[in-house]
Amino acid sequence: MTKITIEGNNLLSGEIKISGAKNSAVALIPAAVLSKEKSVIYNIPEIRDIEYLIKIMELLDCKIEYKNNALYIDSSNLKNKAIPEELSVQMRASYYFMGALLAKFGRVEMSFPGGCNIGARPIDIHVKGFQQLGAKVEIIKNRYIITADKLIGKKIYFDFPSVGATINIMLAATGAEGTTIIENAAMEPEIVNVASFLINMGVKIRGAGTKKIEIEGTKELNNGVCEVFSDRIECGTYIIIGALLGKNLTIKGVIKEHLEAFLMKLKEVGVKYCIKGDTLTISKTENLKPTYIKTLVFPGFPTDLQQPFTTLLTQANGKSIVEETIYENRFKNTYDLNRMGAITNIISLNKLEVNGPRKLHGTNVIATDLRGGASLLIAALVAEGITEIDNSDVILRGYSEVIRKLENVGAKIKITE
Ligand code: EPU
Repeated sequence: MTKITIEGNNLLSGEIKISGAKNSAVALIPAAVLSKEKSVIYNIPEIRDIEYLIKIMELLDCKIEYKNNALYIDSSNLKNKAIPEELSVQMRASYYFMGALLAKFGRVEMSFPGGCNIGARPIDIHVKGFQQLGAKVEIIKNRYIITADKLIGKKIYFDFPSVGATINIMLAATGAEGTTIIENAAMEPEIVNVASFLINMGVKIRGAGTKKIEIEGTKELNNGVCEVFSDRIECGTYIIIGALLGKNLTIKGVIKEHLEAFLMKLKEVGVKYCIKGDTLTISKTENLKPTYIKTLVFPGFPTDLQQPFTTLLTQANGKSIVEETIYENRFKNTYDLNRMGAITNIISLNKLEVNGPRKLHGTNVIATDLRGGASLLIAALVAEGITEIDNSDVILRGYSEVIRKLENVGAKIKITE
């Protein structure tokens, strides 16, 4: 089990460069199977989920080369094979092979995807979408067998603007006859990133980034090139670290349009920063104010920054409220935050009260999920003394080169297997 050890309470200065977005990259890689030949995806983050996606691509006989954070994918010999459970459960994003292989071969067989344990996370909206395009979905125990003689473009309405379902139906719709319209689509930047890649391969897509997306099915998709957007969640996490410990900490690769709600909340709690182009400079803020945050779909406050932001609120003067509306189980980090000296109380199923400011102290903690792990990592950087974070593999699933990046700006951090 991987353990991160941090000696906290050191100011951090220097530069941190944000990597490519996990949640874009993990969709762009499966999307590459749609190309009849070669694709290149630039700015791939160095995270564990990518390693497992590459294993699945290789299982399907794609040739993969990884050089200077670019992934060169040759899918000209692609074969349709069942994806074994030991690979699909390694991450949530394995579900994108459902849409991609269905479009390409009219058949997919794989197990229910994995991912962080932050709620039930059903995939009923994906399944309903595939069925509306004409696919038959059989679920035998944990195995999904999705088949279609022919996919036909339809107007599909999502009961909830799911990120995964929007991308999966976009992928499947590339293989459908006619036009598919997704109403109440998710608007997250990941959707735009994937749509741009598909457009580059020759698919006609309109409206990605809005509530209504139109996709025209296309016979053969050409070579594709794209660049993974900078990771808004990684970026937000380092901005929080800067607000707590920065000494002119510079963060490069900021896309402020992807972080509006988060940046507004930072201003509300009194954090000052300076943005020039894609570079943000931030120093430790004294006298943070409490606030209320409510997670929402994009462009609302992102659920993936809720747990890191909670750690910031442990340092604010007074009572804050955090309302989580996307997942049922995203307060697990608070158990260990409290053991480090925070005072947080779950006041109802989806509401948390955070009382600050509290001096945090180092202790042994366990990362239960990716962003919960990030929340503890931030707490460990702030805390007096030494914190050991067990099960840190979950943090490496989403934060590219996190040890090197923090060490470079002066953090006392090490990792042991
Ligand atoms: N939902 C359903 N049915 C579905 C799909 C979703 O009920 O068919 C529910 C989920 O259970 C959840 C909510 O809708 O309560 C949102 O789910 P969504 O489908 O939008 O999320 P996702 O595709 O499973 C992606 C990211 C998550 C991120 C969310 C929201 C990937 C691989 N994961 O998940 O990332 O929280 O979108 O932005 O892209 C993370 O990075 O830590 C992370 C969890």
